[in-house]
Amino acid sequence: MQNDGKTGRYERILWQLQELLAKSSDPVARMATVAALLHHKQPAFSWTGFYLLRDGDLVVGPYQGPVACLVLLPRHTGVCWAAVDRGEPVVVPDVHVFPGHIACDPRSRSEVVVPLRDERGGIVGVLDVDSTRPAAFDEVDAAWLGRISALISGASGTSSLAG
Ligand code: SME
Repeated sequence: MQNDGKTGRYERILWQLQELLAKSSDPVARMATVAALLHHKQPAFSWTGFYLLRDGDLVVGPYQGPVACLVLLPRHTGVCWAAVDRGEPVVVPDVHVFPGHIACDPRSRSEVVVPLRDERGGIVGVLDVDSTRPAAFDEVDAAWLGRISALISGASGTSSLAG
């Protein structure tokens, strides 16, 4: 998998987000800002957003891209639920061979999902990115997106994230 400048872009995105997110600890404002910046700065991203745990469901949060599934059903199926259930990032080079993959956008070819945690470390949802390119993501993306998702809870507390 080629890097083609994405690491440099992640570095710049992280710096910019650290500055932007300092202006509000509100989790929705932070998630919306993360989704917008990532989506517009990383050319391979075709859908960028959050799914949040709400009463045992994964319900869509702030995102950029085509209209997505409001709720990921059935539960514990697909890539987002795999990241929640395993408690770790999931990189999917080919969504067509991932068992149970939920195709909100039929053009999606590859995907990366990282858990979103509250300030106590509990999983409250995921940051999910799709690409229409095959094998667009690798462990580099998972590591940077994990770092970026950690900015949502930040230092100011986001207990309101929990559903
Ligand atoms: N493909 C995801 C569903 C969310 S969409 O990618 C926006 C999954 O299998 O969980």
